[in-house]
Amino acid sequence: MEKSGDKNDFFVIKALEDGVNVIGLTRGSDTRFHHSEKLDRNEVMIAQFTDHTSAVKIRGKAIIQTSHGEVSTE
Ligand code: TRP
Repeated sequence: MEKSGDKNDFFVIKALEDGVNVIGLTRGSDTRFHHSEKLDRNEVMIAQFTDHTSAVKIRGKAIIQTSHGEVSTE
């Protein structure tokens, strides 16, 4: 059985305003942006950390839920 905190855990981002950016950063020694997703107010994105993505940067007002808990960018 999977335990919480595995790489395939998903996380939820809910935008609280228009134009929230969800930016994926590459895994490995070269850390760079590889994907940017724009969410409008009340849009939700469900994503995982993957072989390609080891970090996520969120710009704008949003609620982020993970297996570690919930955080807001406010
Ligand atoms: N192709 C990307 C990947 O498999 C898609 C992705 C997964 C992603 N998680 C993300 C993009 C988080 C942005 C943020 O890694």
